[in-house]
Amino acid sequence: MRQSLDSATQEALAARLRFYRDLGLHEFYRRPVDPALLADAPSMPSQAEPSVVPARQAQPINMPIPDTLEDQPIPPRTTFPEPPGVGAAVAPAEREKALRILREEIGDCTRCALHTGRNKLVFADGDPNARLMFVGEGPGADEDAQGLPFVGRAGQLLNNMIAAMGLKREEVYIANVVKCRPPGNRTPEPDEANTCTPFLFRQIDVVRPQVLVALGATAATYLLGQRQPLAGLRGRVHAFRGSQLIVTYHPAYLLRDPRQKKEAWADLQIAMRELGLKAPARD
Ligand code: URA
Repeated sequence: MRQSLDSATQEALAARLRFYRDLGLHEFYRRPVDPALLADAPSMPSQAEPSVVPARQAQPINMPIPDTLEDQPIPPRTTFPEPPGVGAAVAPAEREKALRILREEIGDCTRCALHTGRNKLVFADGDPNARLMFVGEGPGADEDAQGLPFVGRAGQLLNNMIAAMGLKREEVYIANVVKCRPPGNRTPEPDEANTCTPFLFRQIDVVRPQVLVALGATAATYLLGQRQPLAGLRGRVHAFRGSQLIVTYHPAYLLRDPRQKKEAWADLQIAMRELGLKAPARD
């Protein structure tokens, strides 16, 4: 006899299904391939969210897809030395206040040129005591309008990724490398990112998440302080300011090339392993 699932489990399973569906698994089984769809991969992914995201296309069917995504091997854990300058721990009960004070210190910021084009400064969203934190690149149009990170299409995908991990968005903490929207969603310039990241680092020091996920190359570059292709940074755990840092693809990139979602899911599984989370069972 089938047992009924509680609503949280049902929502987590539904989110995973959406995530798998976006991978194109159902099309893999059902559809004959249209060769025109096989030549769609972008040559050089930019991290910025495109202002117009192309409609989702059916996925190529000739790629190897494992029977279950859980079967993918998780690479062995490697840790790297801490960078210097890790801040003092803030007691859990003080974190919300500490973040409020930090937000006040940032104020109506004019420290870099990005302030000239912004509508709303995007500080962060989520639980000051989160065990898991995501860092993106910078606000896009929707985020600039609402003053919250990851509320556009990339944000919807991030929400699905979080739910597929068995968590709620309110349980994690989300911030960006820069807090003001770069014009045309371009990548932040180094002087803009370097002006803003001291505040991001202080947010990280306050929240002190167990696991930090860098979404895309810009976040990875400015968190780790080294510019490297994502391929060299993914698949392992970096020690960073008291957290385990994991690097994965930016959701905006996954919207443009959904075939990479299975790689992103493998990265999220590393995060889940560090957090001791088990993905909700299917069925
Ligand atoms: N892309 C980002 O990097 N951050 C956001 O907040 C939204 C889109």
